Amino acid sequence: MVQNLKKPESLDRPLKDMGARHAAFGTKREHYPVVRDSLVTVMGEMAGDVWNDQLRSDWNGAIDLVSSIMLVGAREAETAAV
Ligand code: HEM
Repeated sequence: MVQNLKKPESLDRPLKDMGARHAAFGTKREHYPVVRDSLVTVMGEMAGDVWNDQLRSDWNGAIDLVSSIMLVGAREAETAAV
């Protein structure tokens, strides 16, 4: 994600494909915020003193964006399977 911040379009297809793989092994839409909260909490614990509200908010936003693209791929795969 960080390496591709300046060219987010290069992440579009890989993230959709990853969302489709997640859907295939049973990941549901409602699991995404749970995983986000867990990831961001651990990041905060690992970051120690450099962690702050801005970083927490930015990472929540970044993971929500990634999740939304993954969920488009998940929906595409479900539609294609019908
Ligand atoms: C921002 C959201 C997420 C990201 C960036 C992410 C990223 C990844 C990546 C990179 C892999 C390695 C395999 C692959 O590329 O397909 C993976 C595997 C996995 N993810 Fe996620 N994931 C996310 C959300 C979730 C959620 C919501 C769940 C469900 C609770 C989940 C459960 C799993 C499991 C169980 C595997 C292992 C699958 C296997 O190897 O059989 N992930 N994830």
